[in-house]
Order: sequence, then C-alpha cells, then structure tokens
Amino acid sequence: MNILENDIEKILISKEEINSIENAMAAQISDDYADKNLLLLCILKGSVVFFSDLMRKITLPMQIDFMKVTSYGKGSTSTGNVRILLDLHREDFSAVDVLIVEDIIDSGRTLSTLVEYLKMKGCRSVKTCTLLDKPARREVEFTPDYTGKIIPDEFVVGFGLDYAEKYRELPYVGILKPSVYTKEDNPD
Ligand code: IMP
Ligand code: MG
Repeated sequence: MNILENDIEKILISKEEINSIENAMAAQISDDYADKNLLLLCILKGSVVFFSDLMRKITLPMQIDFMKVTSYGKGSTSTGNVRILLDLHREDFSAVDVLIVEDIIDSGRTLSTLVEYLKMKGCRSVKTCTLLDKPARREVEFTPDYTGKIIPDEFVVGFGLDYAEKYRELPYVGILKPSVYTKEDNPD
C-alpha cells in the first residue's frame, strides 16, 4: 500500500468504475469521430492518466498533443487565472478536430478559456471531455461534450489529480482528509 493512502478519507470512484466510465466514453467518441480527423489533446498534468487510457480505448486513428495550463496555485481552490505554460505549435489547425481531455471541471475557467483559444487558432472543431465534473462550483457557464461522472463539491485526488503535486499516482479517485489541506494551508 502507498503510504499516501493514509490521507484518503474515502474512495469516491474505484478503478473498476473508472474503467467502465472510460469504456463507455471511448465507444461514444469512436462513433462520433469516425469521419473526423481526431486530435486528442491532453491537458497536463492532471489528465495524463485518464488520457493515456482513453487514447488506447478509442478505436480510431488519431494524433495526440499536449498543453499545460495552470488555473490555481498551491491550495485547494481554483482562482480565475488561466495561464498557458506549454502551447501547441502546429501548422494544420484548420485540418484537425480537437478533443480536449481534462481531469476535472471546477469553476469552468480552464476549459472555457481553452476552447476559445483553440477556436481562435482556427481548429476545425473543438470539443471537450472530462473524467469528473463539479457543476456546483461553476463560476462561468460551461458544459463539456462528454462527462465521465458528476461529483459533489469535495476536493478529490488520485488518478492524475493532485493536491500540492501529491497523490497523482493513486489508482482511484479519493476524497482527501480535510486535515491534510487545513494543515498545509495554515502551517501554524
Ligand atoms: P477550473 O478552471 O476551475 O474548472 O479548474 C480545473 C482545474 O482545477 C483542474 O484541471 C484541476 O487541475 C484543478 N482542480 C479542480 N478541482 C480539483 C480537485 O478536487 N482536485 C484536484 N484538482 C482540482
Ligand atoms: Mg488540471
């Protein structure tokens, strides 16, 4: 057992449940993109685990690419600031149907900003899929095209999701014990 598991209050989504969510989503995407030129876009770092599963489950030819954005600092809540840390450098934006793969939607700022940005770059189409969605926390209106699971307003980690860069390697989505972030946000 990974010692980090001591910080998990409970498992919210087991690896078996994640696997069946991914299977259903990949089948739907494979249908919807059969006549398109799919560019599967991973948003680093949180999406990397979900992304690597999806790319192997979608049964279509595709290209993959990566962007890195940040919408929050060290703590457990998002701020409104979206910064691009790693950009896309391509000549063929008008030839690709981009599907952005995100780990979780919170305020909605990251994805609404990215969709606008990629449309501005001239992509033929831009859609979004997310493993998790916390609609209760929305600050800007945003609805993803594919949603794995709607979850309550809890801070979750694992399966790529971090708290202060930790817990990404856990094989499930778990709720972090509040004592973990209360302690780190207030070191006194
Ligand atoms: P948004 O721009 O507020 O929608 O933020 C989305 C980003 O915030 C995600 O890609 C995550 O990096 C981060 N985030 C939001 N909620 C959580 C959470 O519960 N656990 C870990 N990261 C989260
Ligand atoms: Mg993220």
